[in-house]
Amino acid sequence: MILVTGGAGYIGSHTCISLIEAGFDIVVYDNFSNSSKKSLQRVESIVERNIPLVEGDIRDKEVLQDVFDKYDIDSVIHFAGLKAVGESVQKPLEYYDNNINGTIALCEVMRDNGCKKIVFSSSATVYGDPKSVPISEDFPLSATNPYGRSKLFIEEILRDIYVSDATWKIILLRYFNPVGAHKSGLIGEDPNGIPNNLMPYISQVAIGKRDYLSVFGGDYATNDGTGVRDYIHVEDLADGHVKALENIDKFDGVKAINLGTGQGYSVLEVVKAFERASEKKVPYKIVGRREGDIQSCYADPSYAKKVLDWSAKHGINDMCKDAWNWQSKNPNGYGS
Ligand code: NAD
Ligand code: UD1
Repeated sequence: MILVTGGAGYIGSHTCISLIEAGFDIVVYDNFSNSSKKSLQRVESIVERNIPLVEGDIRDKEVLQDVFDKYDIDSVIHFAGLKAVGESVQKPLEYYDNNINGTIALCEVMRDNGCKKIVFSSSATVYGDPKSVPISEDFPLSATNPYGRSKLFIEEILRDIYVSDATWKIILLRYFNPVGAHKSGLIGEDPNGIPNNLMPYISQVAIGKRDYLSVFGGDYATNDGTGVRDYIHVEDLADGHVKALENIDKFDGVKAINLGTGQGYSVLEVVKAFERASEKKVPYKIVGRREGDIQSCYADPSYAKKVLDWSAKHGINDMCKDAWNWQSKNPNGYGS
């Protein structure tokens, strides 16, 4: 049985589907601090079966222990965490407590129950402002905000756990920019309030909820002056987790693996692709740069291909088409 912490969230819900389709049994653990039970109900309707769910906080070791008592947990996929960069600057203690103390509590309970396999949701944010692109896993690590530092610290904590006990199997998946939605349009990204990230913002402009997109910076040294990122379809990301679990036993040491496509797109290229996919106009205005943003960030995905036999299958058109399918069918997300 696989324990999926944060399994009701955006990436977790998509990964639950891929895990079940690949034949894994799962139990979801979530406190719903940033998600809705509806996402899991919809996952259940897609996979046509019930998924065991435990409502709890990863910092609550008693509830976690109950899960280990009740289910025979072989491995953990650990998505649970807070993820908004701006909010993390306002609430650093909450972020460190939730993400770091939560991971420590989870690992303690895992250790106490002899469960020592974990796939952790890290982020390309741990590369800070990279010296060049594409970014490979051996690049120097740094962070510029509490969210990024929580990811960096957790990576280090997991490395220390391995040093203390080499029977642990640990995979750090460094996601680039997850976007898109399940092809059914039943599950997708449902941000609270005004979206911080590009794709959900564009979707809300296309559906008429927001007037225009503010493009943060038109003077970067990129092909059209706007920032370049490696957008990756959430279904490809979900498959990457299945591959990680399928291969975890054969690895020694802590493996950090990029999950990206290797292809960078500028903000304006994404806008154009979204307009094509949605057949809607996405008005935009170029404004000043956003503090903390970097110019260009895309993966060298060759290590994931080598060790997991994984590579992204979906291109930018699929990402936009599926993001639009979700947005247009659920104009108010799970609150629709
Ligand atoms: P999300 O907010 O949709 O999902 C996170 C889930 O964890 C939510 O369901 C939330 O309720 C739950 N959760 C949070 N704190 C918890 C706690 N203390 N106890 C139990 N459950 C808790 O986010 P997501 O986009 O699906 O991201 C999943 C993971 O991937 C996060 O760790 C995030 O930092 C990481 N990540 C996300 C992105 C991205 O752009 N979405 C990029 C890189 C890394
Ligand atoms: C952001 C986070 C990063 C996190 C990632 C997760 C910041 C500074 N970085 O990355 O730590 O791991 O999300 O997905 O928040 N853009 C606009 N207008 C908008 C929104 C975004 O022009 O309204 C631009 C940005 O300047 C950037 C690109 O779109 O060039 C992507 O932005 P976003 O989706 O927020 O992701 P990142 O900044 O890459």
